[in-house]
Amino acid sequence: MTTDWQSLYESGNTPWDRGSPAPGLVSWLESHQLQGRILAPGCGPGHDLTALASSGASTVVGIDIAPAAVSLASTRCASLPSVSVLLADLFTEAHSSLLNSFDWVFEHTCYCAIPPDLRPDYAAAVHAALRPGGHLLAIFYLEPWEAHEDQNQGPPFRTSRDDLDRMFQNHFTLVEAWQPTAAFPGREGREEMRILKRLD
Ligand SMILES: C[S@@+](CC[C@H](N)C(=O)[O-])C[C@H]1O[C@@H](n2cnc3c(N)ncnc32)[C@H](O)[C@@H]1O
Repeated sequence: MTTDWQSLYESGNTPWDRGSPAPGLVSWLESHQLQGRILAPGCGPGHDLTALASSGASTVVGIDIAPAAVSLASTRCASLPSVSVLLADLFTEAHSSLLNSFDWVFEHTCYCAIPPDLRPDYAAAVHAALRPGGHLLAIFYLEPWEAHEDQNQGPPFRTSRDDLDRMFQNHFTLVEAWQPTAAFPGREGREEMRILKRLD
């Protein structure tokens, strides 16, 4: 079943909105910089965009398929001149105006939000959005569900390290993978951060 993201925002059913940027991103940015143009697909309410705006990047573009999310993120980032937020579908937009133009893509709870059968398309779309040699910085949500819960429900849809290896191997080479020491309550030990480099 397709998720109606706009309706979830309109009804306030947005449990992914934790009111601040992803702790794994904030922690990584304490010792790293991002340069150039960054794309954040499925940016939602835009908390991560505020952290990305102070990362050293020249341009941060958030895209989301839900107008309500674009509105929230635009308001949140109104005073940040390097940030723009667009109403766009990753699966169509990355192949047109956003093609080959980003130094970095930042992933956080977009991959787990899309139906698993679209994962190859996600990897292809991120590859297409990056310039040659560009990188994907990702916080992947591996296991959202408790052992007694239905593992096939979603979003968020569970994933595994093997699944990530398989989905990205045709388009990316893995540079680094680690478990973030900082995470939102309830997500501790359930995330993996990765840096992947675009294969040309
Ligand atoms: C679980 S939310 C996470 C939002 C944000 N990353 C965060 O952590 O707060 C997933 C977001 O992806 C957006 N989304 C889903 N499919 C999309 C697509 N094909 N293109 C762009 N955004 C999409 C949804 O509207 C929603 O805002």
